Amino acid sequence: MTHILKLRAGKRNEEIRVEAGSRVMDAISALDPSLIDAPCGGKALCGKCRIRLVGGRLTAPEERESRLLSAAELSAGLRLACLARFEGDAEIELPARGEASIITAGPKAAVDRDPPVRLVVVAPSEPSLEAQSDDEARLLAALALELGRQGAPELAPGRVDLAALPGLARCMREGSVEAVVADGRVLSAVPARPGARQLGLGVDLGTTTVVAYLVDLSTGERLATASELNSQRSFGADVISRIEAAADAECLEVLRSRITSQIAAMARDLVRAQSRAQEDLVAMAIAGNTTMLHLLAGAPPGAIALSPFAPAFLARRIEGAAALGLSGHPGCAAILLPGVSAYVGADIVAGIAAIGLHEAPGRSLFLDLGTNGEIAFGGSAGIVCCATAAGPAFEGAGIEKGSGGVEGAIDSVWVDGGSLRFSTIGGAPATGICGSGLVDALAAFLDCRIVDDTGRVVDAGEAAALPSALAALVDQGPRGPLVFLDRQRGIYLSQADIRAAQLAKAAIAAGIDTLLKLEGIGSGEVDRLYLAGGFGSLLDVRSAARIGLFPASLVDRVIVVGNASGAGATAACLSRSRLADCDRARAACAYVELSSRPDFNEAYIERMMFPEKA
Ligand code: FES
Repeated sequence: MTHILKLRAGKRNEEIRVEAGSRVMDAISALDPSLIDAPCGGKALCGKCRIRLVGGRLTAPEERESRLLSAAELSAGLRLACLARFEGDAEIELPARGEASIITAGPKAAVDRDPPVRLVVVAPSEPSLEAQSDDEARLLAALALELGRQGAPELAPGRVDLAALPGLARCMREGSVEAVVADGRVLSAVPARPGARQLGLGVDLGTTTVVAYLVDLSTGERLATASELNSQRSFGADVISRIEAAADAECLEVLRSRITSQIAAMARDLVRAQSRAQEDLVAMAIAGNTTMLHLLAGAPPGAIALSPFAPAFLARRIEGAAALGLSGHPGCAAILLPGVSAYVGADIVAGIAAIGLHEAPGRSLFLDLGTNGEIAFGGSAGIVCCATAAGPAFEGAGIEKGSGGVEGAIDSVWVDGGSLRFSTIGGAPATGICGSGLVDALAAFLDCRIVDDTGRVVDAGEAAALPSALAALVDQGPRGPLVFLDRQRGIYLSQADIRAAQLAKAAIAAGIDTLLKLEGIGSGEVDRLYLAGGFGSLLDVRSAARIGLFPASLVDRVIVVGNASGAGATAACLSRSRLADCDRARAACAYVELSSRPDFNEAYIERMMFPEKA
């Protein structure tokens, strides 16, 4: 039996048939996964998959739903899409969401144009009775001449890929041939198109966001950038939720096809907007964490979550993009960049390569604060790196009123004349708190003693000693104390939120401590602190040091590098030497497993406390 779902999402109106008894979340995700957020992966833990029932019938709210939604919210029609099921036709409205503001800028460095994947046009010689050489040999001879002229590396003998042979037999009788060449191999050979260009795509495939940079491989020019939220996020905000979901073979296939379709669509739109043919796209270089690359390749990622954390693959690989379900030239190559370990993936390697940490003098810290906290420390003498299970608190997930970096998210908080002030993204009315706002708010609460060094929100008696405007922010909620940032709009941080942020910052700070101790270095001897990732780019570094995310002595040595992973992937697409940098950066990295180290556990407990005011 089926019912009719009428869905309103902003200006979009849809009407679809849904199975009786099916979950609202599954129906909406099947229509368009980008319409709904599910940071907990649909496990009824986060309360973020809210919808509003305008008319019709859903199952009655169960107890778990009543715990996450107030009585007022339930009577206003709010429901959780991961729990509510269709009992009849239903008319549903999705709450307004701002556009995600995704950091796309990354470090800029001169990149030599020597692409690892090339589109080469040649006119092979005709066969004759006197010289009866085969098509492959004649194509390779013509390519060798042209590649020599371009100063590109030689082809391996007899290396026309099997997949290119059918096209080869046809095009060698039609005059000029355009071949896609990579890694000493011919990936495709097709009749030459007049006016063909060679474009490349650098992709930063994050757990939360996907950013794609279109470049002209001949000129090195960056043509356009696109960014979107990762379409897999209805399976959960963090990699562990996605790994759990992928344990089911059907879900793994859904996860794989969602991300490949998303990258393919982003690539198609970027190329089309430049009025170029889709066949002009000949290369993609993709940086992502180890789980994301496994899901892209359709490889079960289960072992990533189980000790001894041995993934299926880590080395760089060049695949046919079409075999992965991606778009472009029939011979378009997809380069999956190399990773170091299950939790220090190709995104970190690409970031290290982009800033040249593996060749830098002195010793610097590199911190990528995304859904996890990955840390690298070192320079040209070698790099040690680790990953901390910081959790997604700084991405706004797991925080009651948390939010991604979308319009209306509180992104900055400060104390001014005894009152708390804040700003929101886009200046819109406050709808939630994003990572940078969370760090600022904690720093402000500590400074004005709303929260003490242990992370405890002061009680009513202690609050009475604060200036009245600050005391009025503290309240008692059903599950413990709350500190309001915007009482009118119900935006607050709960004691549990503060504890989640405290655990996250302790994990990152303890990771830094462990690496420095391992190298016998004090924080005062660190030359630079590179902050990468969207959260790192928006962070107020003084607030970050105030809450103890990293040592205060590093505040003046911070270099914000933005989307270093995307910059590394794009550079790898444009230049063989920058691609080789990724391999060198990977080889320079020694991974340190924190979970088995007593010194990490000690540092973690120690860093749970907030630092005293300087
Ligand atoms: S509560 Fe529904 S997705 Fe988290």
